[in-house]
Amino acid sequence: MVGVDTNVRRDASAADGARPPRIVVPAMAVVALIGPSGSGKSTFARRHFAAAEIFSSDAFRASLTGREADQGISVEAFAALYAAAATRLAGGATVVIDATNLALDARGQALDLAWSAACPAIAVAFDLPVEVCLAWNEARTGRQVAAGVVRRQHRFFQRSLPHLGRDGFDVVHLIQGIDELSAVAVWHRRRPRA
Ligand code: CTP
Ligand code: MG
Repeated sequence: MVGVDTNVRRDASAADGARPPRIVVPAMAVVALIGPSGSGKSTFARRHFAAAEIFSSDAFRASLTGREADQGISVEAFAALYAAAATRLAGGATVVIDATNLALDARGQALDLAWSAACPAIAVAFDLPVEVCLAWNEARTGRQVAAGVVRRQHRFFQRSLPHLGRDGFDVVHLIQGIDELSAVAVWHRRRPRA
């Protein structure tokens, strides 16, 4: 098991067999997905959240240039992503930041968003073996990332993992391996009807 700070929840606590791993998402929250390319973040987001809740850096790059892989537009894409996410959050919704969020600065933007809206900041970290990320990236029909980039991101992510708990997220869910990724359940706390 990867050494992590105490407020990092290893979702595989379910590995005890007691219950399936579970991520509880309040009615209003910022959820930051963290992980290298090919670790399954976008797939997880689509599986567990409504399309309107997902703010993907690829989608914002594509909306600005027509090319989701256009890294040259990243600054503008993230500015647009965070402006749109802030608007949606102000309406009391949950927003999912679907980007690698590997750099401390990137996670800081997600945290700033949560703090300015006074809502919880939840991190979900995708700790998949590099071989899985490479294979999933290679099997993709759409955008693929160079294998060297996946490896570099994976190394960087592994070095950041032990410190994620100190970033300032209210909770960090650590998903380790394919089995946990397929078993994890996301519970959405909905606002009670008035
Ligand atoms: N995939 C899979 N099973 C999963 C998760 C992902 O087979 N449980 C495959 C999907 O077919 C997908 C590929 O792995 O096409 C990459 O997953 P994706 O969710 O796109 O990875 P991301 O982490 O979002 O990669 P990126 O940062 O490059 O957007
Ligand atoms: Mg993605």
